[in-house]
Amino acid sequence: MKKLKIETELDVFESVSDLSEDIQNLMNKAHEARKMAYAPYSHFQVGAALLLASGDIVLGNNQENAAFPSGLCAERVAAFHAGATFPNVKFEAMAITAGSLKQETTVPIPPCGACRQSLAEYEVKQSVPIPIYFMGATGKVVRSRSVKDLLPLIFDHSYL
Ligand code: THU
Repeated sequence: MKKLKIETELDVFESVSDLSEDIQNLMNKAHEARKMAYAPYSHFQVGAALLLASGDIVLGNNQENAAFPSGLCAERVAAFHAGATFPNVKFEAMAITAGSLKQETTVPIPPCGACRQSLAEYEVKQSVPIPIYFMGATGKVVRSRSVKDLLPLIFDHSYL
């Protein structure tokens, strides 16, 4: 038997002010989007801001539904909107912020597995890594230089 070791490296920034100006601006947009999330059931709001190679910024936030699985995460709202309105424009970076309405969320909140898989589709398609920045409502920011670092053993078209 052989062992397969998977290593991943993430960068941790003490605060938003340690990020480049462009990414600070992107994260600010994600905060604005978070505050407009529709999360009456979980009271957990997530905002995502996606910077495109064209310079456009596409926003998303979680949209919940009384029939729970019918809702959608912020990251996929942003990614699918970008895919629908700017087809074939590369994704340059995504900023994500999440916060509970019941308590202060100070730890970085990573995107869920389904969002990682959805983002991976675009990264594989464009053959350029998409850096993902994520945080709570305040506090540290984590950067993954590529979706692959958040989702080792990606399932992609090559298996089909
Ligand atoms: N949520 C997101 O928007 N993104 C994630 O990556 C994780 C979870 C949303 C879904 C749901 O509306 C709420 O957060 C609680 O799970």
